[in-house]
Amino acid sequence: MRMGTAFVALAASVLLVDCGGRGESSGIPPGDPQAGAEQFEMHCGTCHPNGEAATGPSLSDRRFAPAHVRRWIRQGSERMSPIHEEQLSDADLRDLIAYMAALGAVEDR
Ligand code: HEC
Repeated sequence: MRMGTAFVALAASVLLVDCGGRGESSGIPPGDPQAGAEQFEMHCGTCHPNGEAATGPSLSDRRFAPAHVRRWIRQGSERMSPIHEEQLSDADLRDLIAYMAALGAVEDR
């Protein structure tokens, strides 16, 4: 898990250099938490209902960096399939992260 986190951090910094977008790559991006709630329910709700534990762990008792969540969703994990842009656009992903921030699961850093 520690290795995974280090890799994600590294990958995120590479991404930062790649696209050179500032506000986009660090901090909580501007997004609509209400629209994000719908996205969350649709894509994450079965395993993390309202950010709580079910098949997946509780998210609302932890604080993730926005870039970590973005990578995590796009790359997936062993038990979580990746969600690509065709299913969840970058704008929808921004909304989703804004919703997670409202849940207290994403922290501005
Ligand atoms: C099929 C069930 C499933 C779905 C759907 C799902 N998750 Fe997960 N999620 C998991 C499981 C299981 C874990 C625990 C880590 C692992 O085993 O992959 C997890 C872990 C996480 C983590 C913790 C990452 C870490 O660093 O520990 C985050 C954040 C997360 N999910 C966010 C989301 C978001 C956001 C969505 C919707 C876009 C989502 N998940 C959809 C099952 C799911």
